Amino acid sequence: MDRDDILCNCLDITKGTVEDAIKKKKLKSVRQVQDETEAGTVCGACVDDIYILLEEINGKVVD
Ligand code: FES
Repeated sequence: MDRDDILCNCLDITKGTVEDAIKKKKLKSVRQVQDETEAGTVCGACVDDIYILLEEINGKVVD
């Protein structure tokens, strides 16, 4: 998945937007990403992708 690819289809949010938020705000959990970006707050289908992205960036995911 490229930075310009849509990660959250419900809200048209790109992978890059979520990635930048995780890095800049030091987000650790899916919930924090949802609160910060709203990605994953509609149908929930992209929650797994958010989880994977958190794991890639932080090495682990906090619940
Ligand atoms: S695709 Fe992200 S909430 Fe539906």
